[in-house]
Amino acid sequence: MRIIEDKLIREINEKTDIVQLVSEYIELEKAGKNYKGLCPFHDDTNPSFSVSPEKNIAMCMTCKEGGQPITFLRKIKNISFNEAALELASRAGIEVKGVDVKKDPNEKFYLLMHDASIFYQYNLKNSEGGEKALDYLSKREVRGELIDHFQIGYATRGDALYRMLKDKGYAVSDMIALGLVKQGDDGKYYDLFADRVIFPITDPKGHVVGFSGRTLSAKDRAKYINSPETVIFKKGLLLYHFHEALSEIRKNGQVVLYEGFFDVISSYVAGIRHGIATMGTALTKNQARLIKSVTDSIVIAYDGDDAGLKATDQAITMLDQAKLRTEVLEIPEKMDPDDFIKAYGPEVYEARFGEHTKDGYAFRYGYYKHESDLDNANDRKTFRDRVQKMIRYADLSVRDFYRKKLARDLNLDVEDIAVSRKPREIPPKKTVQKGVVNRYIKAELYVILMMIHSKDTALSVQKKLKTTDYADHIAAALRMRIESFYVKHDTFDEEAFIKTLGEEERTYFEEKVKQNTFYRWTQDTDESEVDGYVETIKQANMKRRIDYLNKKIREDPDHAEGYVKERDVLRGEIKK
Ligand code: UTP
Ligand code: MN
Repeated sequence: MRIIEDKLIREINEKTDIVQLVSEYIELEKAGKNYKGLCPFHDDTNPSFSVSPEKNIAMCMTCKEGGQPITFLRKIKNISFNEAALELASRAGIEVKGVDVKKDPNEKFYLLMHDASIFYQYNLKNSEGGEKALDYLSKREVRGELIDHFQIGYATRGDALYRMLKDKGYAVSDMIALGLVKQGDDGKYYDLFADRVIFPITDPKGHVVGFSGRTLSAKDRAKYINSPETVIFKKGLLLYHFHEALSEIRKNGQVVLYEGFFDVISSYVAGIRHGIATMGTALTKNQARLIKSVTDSIVIAYDGDDAGLKATDQAITMLDQAKLRTEVLEIPEKMDPDDFIKAYGPEVYEARFGEHTKDGYAFRYGYYKHESDLDNANDRKTFRDRVQKMIRYADLSVRDFYRKKLARDLNLDVEDIAVSRKPREIPPKKTVQKGVVNRYIKAELYVILMMIHSKDTALSVQKKLKTTDYADHIAAALRMRIESFYVKHDTFDEEAFIKTLGEEERTYFEEKVKQNTFYRWTQDTDESEVDGYVETIKQANMKRRIDYLNKKIREDPDHAEGYVKERDVLRGEIKK
């Protein structure tokens, strides 16, 4: 792979409007000379992503991700530097000669599928059966721009697709391998999708990798026929409309998960454009991870029937493990979202997002309870087992809440609802690391103690340690509170200080700071001791960053130049 000259890279960056580019992914607001928005690279609650048109840079003040246009694009799209540079060059009308990005070995399959998709779309508007299909779609309120956005097509009966692909020079073996064509008993080739509305399914990078065909006849036994699993079509790794919704997901900081194609489409019409679908199968771990790679927040909007409720219960477990913040949107009367939107209209649907969403625990509790007849001994036991299993690893506040609820519902004493917290199995490697973990967490606490002891120490720590160096975000927050406190006061006053704290910070202060014998210490603090702790915290932070970079490098070694560079610099610094 050739390198793009520095001069050209500068030109591409200069000719790209950074504000416009970033706006494609997040909502920006003007703030003085700059623009601000929620950081798309970490779980951001107050806008820390800053875009400077003057410096042509977009960067998060908290997690430090971002950079100039090319760097921003490569990070947000998870592509290589050259791919990002070429994309922006072509947008800016800059010609880059002799540089091409590494070819994907499946490139020829993507081309074939792309051509097939175009052909299906053409046939929807230009074939005999297509008219019937358009009619069908129109009855389901899918017309015009919607058809274009979702690239909906129509498969004719017979061998038209086969002949078109053959004319274009594609190998029959590839058509068969991709599940588009099959050989009949007579030795002739036929199209696999026949007289069906076609939904193309893309991978996260936007390549068409499979199709799903819906029958037009209510009598047909197979409502949808899907591409078989192929080299490029792996249903458990894909989500319908994921690639297409990426920028909307980022803008909304959230994704809505549906079961089916028509749910995603109706949702889109209703103005909720960050919808994706699992296509009727159980959500996999890989799909949950894929979602987590772009957002931390998800609303499950599965069908309101029994199958939908069961699938929701299973999906919550997967999403929990991927550490997503999950809400469930309840669809009444056993409808699916598509039916609901058509029956009640987009406004009523949109309003449900505020009023009828439940957190994952509330949903499951209600679901388990609803499924049980509490006068039946077997049901009582099952209900209790399910709830206990649900809260086993939950936060203490959640566990307690549901223990009490369960006790009430079963007419038991809370004490009888034991929640054994089976220790999670920890792989031996992690146990070795534990000492290290304790060391820097302790260092973070000690620095806080020393800052409390002396304003001078506090001021010097402020210079030496960034808040982003901390592992414990509560410790980081507390440290900022101390700093602010000293702006107005010269000595530390516990009572006045506590009033400035939020709930979590207060707990940390009460439990960790005040309980520590050092807290009542009267001697002066030793500056070199402070420095020792500062060093420990910094080193630990660098190690965490190195671990993160290593993970990134392992995940995608071909696009890791930047990560490798940064890692090596950090390794050098640690050695020093
Ligand atoms: P549903 O049975 O809920 O269908 O399956 P639907 O989305 O409401 O379809 P319409 O509205 O009747 O057309 C949900 C999803 O499961 C997949 C499809 O992706 C469908 O959208 N599915 C369903 C299949 O893959 N094959 C099937 O036979 C049925
Ligand atoms: Mn439906």
